[in-house]
Amino acid sequence: MALDIVLGLQWGDEGKGKIVDRIGADYHCVARFQGGPNAGHTLYRDGRKHVLHQIPSGIFHPEVFCVVGNGVIIDPVTFCREIDQLDENDIPWRDRLWLSSRAHLILPTHRLIDRMSEEAKGDDRIGSTLRGITPAYVDKYAREGVRLGDLLAASYELRIEKALERHRTQLPEALWPNEETLAAFHAAVKRLREMAILNVEERLLDWHDQGAAILAEGAQGTLLDVDFGDYPYVTSSHTLAASACIGLGLPPQAVRRVLGVLKAYATRVGNGPFPTELLDERQEQLQRLGNEFGSTTGRPRRCGWLDLELIRRAARLNGVTHLALTKLDVIVQMPEFLVKETNGAYRSFTGWVEPPDASEPSAQAKEFVEFLSDNLGLPVSFLSVGPERDAVHCPAPWA
Ligand code: IMP
Ligand code: MG
Repeated sequence: MALDIVLGLQWGDEGKGKIVDRIGADYHCVARFQGGPNAGHTLYRDGRKHVLHQIPSGIFHPEVFCVVGNGVIIDPVTFCREIDQLDENDIPWRDRLWLSSRAHLILPTHRLIDRMSEEAKGDDRIGSTLRGITPAYVDKYAREGVRLGDLLAASYELRIEKALERHRTQLPEALWPNEETLAAFHAAVKRLREMAILNVEERLLDWHDQGAAILAEGAQGTLLDVDFGDYPYVTSSHTLAASACIGLGLPPQAVRRVLGVLKAYATRVGNGPFPTELLDERQEQLQRLGNEFGSTTGRPRRCGWLDLELIRRAARLNGVTHLALTKLDVIVQMPEFLVKETNGAYRSFTGWVEPPDASEPSAQAKEFVEFLSDNLGLPVSFLSVGPERDAVHCPAPWA
């Protein structure tokens, strides 16, 4: 029993990556289990900003293995770009980044089909990141996808050609990817083939048998789950805790703790319901204070108040055992901020400025954490008060 899961309780961008980076060193392995390059996990290290899309946020701990599980879909071009960034920052990855042979590839045509179907929806569009996520998962479940393991066969190019050709019926000739795009794709696939592609579930099961601690890193958030989110305004994967088992090949009994990450306010990129959304100038104020612009698409995020009614539901769906509260330092810069309690009533708080380098949370921060913890009936084990790895307090034990 040593699988811990970190996941988002809102619409993504709760600060999961930062929390994973913070606790990652305590694990043998950090593994991604769903989603793909639609994700954007922002980490600050030595004052520098790093954005990860497909590589697990444990990568900055050189002694930790990083796994991209079978539930993830991989875009070879952007994946290689991320690898290049690791090299530029002298972050070693070669012997410790393992990719599941069962993970599916995103083809250049998937991205174009994604764009075409979003445009066709007009005002009903989802607000997708246009990374090809939905078409790639569609092909996976249609049993027509290309898996990483397929790249290991000598005839892998034929396999890709066939998959691309199948998309001819879905894409008008004028939208077909150009030579340059296809060449970049094929070059990235060649590089990907040289990486550690294996039946990674065997390793995970061995580690699990040996009692090694594994950290599963969720992407997006509970409210974007394909079944339990605001369908159709959702992503095309399961973002719930239960998805970690299927997305890695570990049994349910492996799960030990589930850390639900929530931001002290709420944001949503893309369309769909947002009950506590701010529709006045305070929305832009929060955007600015919290730098709420998509790390994948650069789009401004819709902002609103923390909704504990929704968080409560998310925590139950995921079997959350512990909470991590992020960006408290941002919300307290508002002169007044609201929180919707689990009973649907709003409670108002007067803002304060959190001392930036406090080694202990202030009395006001403690009080807020206590309110949250009481309302949700869960311990707050991490309290993030700034972007850096060290700007995290531990009000309750994480054990
Ligand atoms: P898709 O997953 O790109 O198809 O996008 C579907 C919806 O999920 C859109 O509203 C996106 O903005 C949202 N979404 C996808 N990935 C993320 C993420 O990592 N953070 C926040 N929102 C996301
Ligand atoms: Mg993000």
